[in-house]
Amino acid sequence: MFSRFFSRVALLAAPFLAMIMVGCSKADMTVRQSTLDPKGPVAQVQYDLFMKTVWLVVILFALVGGLLVYAVIKFRFRAGDENKPAIVEDGHGNPLIEIGLITASIGALVIIAIPTLTAIWYTDDVPAESVPTSKLSVWYPRVEGTRENYAKAVEEQVLEVDVIGKQWWFRFEYPQLGLTNDAKHSVPNEMVIPKGVAVRINLRSEDVIHSFWVPKIAGKVDLMPGRKNHMWLQARETGHYYGQCAEFCGDSHAYMLFRVEVVEPAEFAKWVQRQKADAAPVVAGSKADKGKALFAAKSCVMCHNVGGHFGAGAFAPDLTHVASRKSLAGAWMDNRDLKEQRALEQKTNNTESSVAVDPATLKANLIKWIGSSGTSHDANGKPTKDVKPGNRMHYYKMFNVAGLNETKQTFTAEELDCLAEYLLTLK
Ligand code: CUA
Repeated sequence: MFSRFFSRVALLAAPFLAMIMVGCSKADMTVRQSTLDPKGPVAQVQYDLFMKTVWLVVILFALVGGLLVYAVIKFRFRAGDENKPAIVEDGHGNPLIEIGLITASIGALVIIAIPTLTAIWYTDDVPAESVPTSKLSVWYPRVEGTRENYAKAVEEQVLEVDVIGKQWWFRFEYPQLGLTNDAKHSVPNEMVIPKGVAVRINLRSEDVIHSFWVPKIAGKVDLMPGRKNHMWLQARETGHYYGQCAEFCGDSHAYMLFRVEVVEPAEFAKWVQRQKADAAPVVAGSKADKGKALFAAKSCVMCHNVGGHFGAGAFAPDLTHVASRKSLAGAWMDNRDLKEQRALEQKTNNTESSVAVDPATLKANLIKWIGSSGTSHDANGKPTKDVKPGNRMHYYKMFNVAGLNETKQTFTAEELDCLAEYLLTLK
């Protein structure tokens, strides 16, 4: 009887234990989007809070489960119990135990509430101790600040990044540095920040609700239409981090990713200068030159900006430096050699280490992306399968009312090749 009882308990517990152990494995600690591998103070605070809660719950589980097991064994049916009355007379409560349990429950809630509220306040905005007070930075001028004029210091000394959510990609703007959509220098899908610097993130949406989440650094706060949300983050180590929209926002929500590139401060200053530069002229008569003409003829120019070449587009991702980015299509397509990338990750045991953009992979991605997007049609006039379902590419027809419902965007293989060659020059 006894051994059968325990073998049943063991049978029930085995899958749960296996599940717990899978969660603890080293492999899972190093996945790209793991909240169990914090690489910045905000993610660290969130991780610590999670662990505190887990331990409290484990203790409660052991207490309640222990009492239950004790009662089951202690008051089990024994030989000779047949003669006892079947139902024991009801007890009438024990005030000491009841009040004690209520007090203990409130105590457990308070124990969880204190670190929870502390963490919520901490993650809300850059804390005073993280506001830089040095005289002059390499990427933008800071003024001397003290904790007394903290509000002013936050405004003037913390690096601010505006994050704008769109269906289905993220636009990053650096208003202090002149990298904005209005100035024709916005940065799509890949946010670059300097290591060890507190960054204030202003969250905006131009359509529906999205959510900003970089599991290893910070998150997640919603981008609400018509409302200003904010958060802050800081990365302890350089590297290539992976982010994700964390709020269902339509067809391509699952494909709405982004990257965060954390670089040394000196490298960040150089990156800012590169972002402000216009695209280089293309060689006349080359494939790229044909591609540039197609870029205008196929209406890409209506939505996309290419600094120095075209300037009308403000609706879609800025392509002035598209060939320098490691991802495409809302960071859904990876422009690196993935075999090399895997090898590097295994060698360094770090998913944030990254190889450079591979031009061949980038070109293949560009052709696949442009050739299969939105309202593209195959030879039979059927819509082609989208890389990103429901994406807005080729919705230029919105601006062309006369052609609404009629316009089909098709590309020959040669046209796609030329367009890709042109985009490859935009570094
Ligand atoms: Cu944007 Cu989900």
